[in-house]
Amino acid sequence: MEYLIKSAVTATEITPSSGPAAELFSVGEKSPIAALAPSLALRAQAGSRGAPDEGAVRAATIVAEIADDIIAREILLDRAMGPNRRKKSSEKLRRGRRPSEGLAFIARDLTGAVVGTVRLWDVRLGEDGPAALLLGPLAVEPGMKSGGIGSALMRHAIAEAARLGHGAIVLVGDAPYYGRFGFSADRTGSLAMPGPYERHRLLALELKNGALDGAKGTIKAAGRKIKAPALGFVA
Ligand SMILES: CC(C)(COP(=O)(O)OP(=O)(O)OC[C@H]1O[C@@H](n2cnc3c(N)ncnc32)[C@H](O)[C@@H]1OP(=O)(O)O)[C@@H](O)C(=O)NCCC(=O)NCCS
Repeated sequence: MEYLIKSAVTATEITPSSGPAAELFSVGEKSPIAALAPSLALRAQAGSRGAPDEGAVRAATIVAEIADDIIAREILLDRAMGPNRRKKSSEKLRRGRRPSEGLAFIARDLTGAVVGTVRLWDVRLGEDGPAALLLGPLAVEPGMKSGGIGSALMRHAIAEAARLGHGAIVLVGDAPYYGRFGFSADRTGSLAMPGPYERHRLLALELKNGALDGAKGTIKAAGRKIKAPALGFVA
């Protein structure tokens, strides 16, 4: 689904159109597509927490990540989450793997800069349990927080995961934030992460009814492995 801004200044004039799976949103104030994304208001200037400046209204687009985005995404993650981000137990499920096909997204601002990121990863819920997705990391450029980018990334990621036929998404995160997208710890009591984590922060969302039925055990990585570059010597 794509949303086009009619005017860069009049942030409320947003109309849906068909097209590639991208979501362009403006912004500065609540938009009429609030039912899909209730808080799409970006601050007019990065770092500003004040009212948007009409001359500087920004927009961001949610698009599929491409290889050229990787360095900017990693820099953004370091800035947003700090150096300990690589020690999280979720990282054990991601290391050496590729994200689930078609499920790596970034938010790009009007200049093309990467201002948000989210990816989903193939996992298995327990040894021979059902397939699911692990979501994360989700991060937004620190100076642009609370403008709706995180919510737009989440809604887009969930919608695409459902469209691609996945049954459930799990993540480790704050229920007060992820609860607004339907995640809860109600169905994760018999699941465990492969490393230290806070049990109440292991959350799940069913995309298909019953996808979490009977899910138990330690969550396993099931994603496509990154192929090591072939090493060769030129004679
Ligand atoms: C979490 C994060 C991705 C949210 O992105 P965002 O663009 O700021 O989010 P949105 O604008 O969609 O939503 C903002 C709202 O979420 C709330 N919120 C943000 N993080 C929250 C958290 N951890 N717990 C509860 N509420 C949270 C904000 O207070 C704000 O509330 P409001 O709508 O009532 O004003 C962003 O804050 C971020 O990058 N944080 C650092 C990295 C991180 O912690 N990632 C999540 C790992 S679990």
